[in-house]
Amino acid sequence: VRTGPLAGKHVIVTSGPTHEPIDPVRYIANRSSGKQGHAIAKAAAEAGARVTLISGPVMLPDPSGVTTVHVESAREMLQAVEKALPADIGIFAAAVADWRVANAGEQKIKKKDGALPNLSLTENPDILATISHRTENRPPLMVGFAAETEHVIEHARQKLARKGCDLIVANDVSSAGGVMGGDSNTVHLVTASGVETWPTLAKSDVAARLVERLGTLMGDAKP
Ligand code: C5P
Repeated sequence: VRTGPLAGKHVIVTSGPTHEPIDPVRYIANRSSGKQGHAIAKAAAEAGARVTLISGPVMLPDPSGVTTVHVESAREMLQAVEKALPADIGIFAAAVADWRVANAGEQKIKKKDGALPNLSLTENPDILATISHRTENRPPLMVGFAAETEHVIEHARQKLARKGCDLIVANDVSSAGGVMGGDSNTVHLVTASGVETWPTLAKSDVAARLVERLGTLMGDAKP
């Protein structure tokens, strides 16, 4: 039996990038390492939660004590999240690709003299917004991330409202900071009631503090 501030809770975490196929051998992706999301999954398990980690393709081992579901594309990630519901907390740290290729090739696209393939893009589902706006089975506490390169807090506030989540963890990913792929992170916690800025911390410490805070918020929400 697990003990800790999140004992008895089911936490769903998304992590990593998504890969959106161009054809069977090529894809569109981004620079997310999955380090922050995986650290959160681990910290939630250590806090006693039952954790389902839904991970895009990453170079990290599956955290121990966590059920890890591996997916590639945004649409697969959404399906896996829906399958994992119900949950008490959703923490959506994945860097989901905004677009996928609408006309992905069923066979490898061949190079032919001078002619360039025409890729047309279509929008991916927004997993955080989709789950946050559910009327049935919405996890009572929904957490999103906002990776921004400017106007970090203002954008995070807008995101909180637009996505319908309860908390946004906002960070500055402008290249000088080295957040993408790095081991530390400087974040702001943005809720409807205000903004709290944390000092620069190791991603594992951001994870532990975030999980501790979620435990408090879950406690506050009890009738
Ligand atoms: O809009 P933006 O990508 O900046 O929002 C970031 C937040 O939304 C993250 O929590 C991310 O996991 C989530 N998201 C999502 N599905 C998308 C795009 C973003 O769940 N298609």
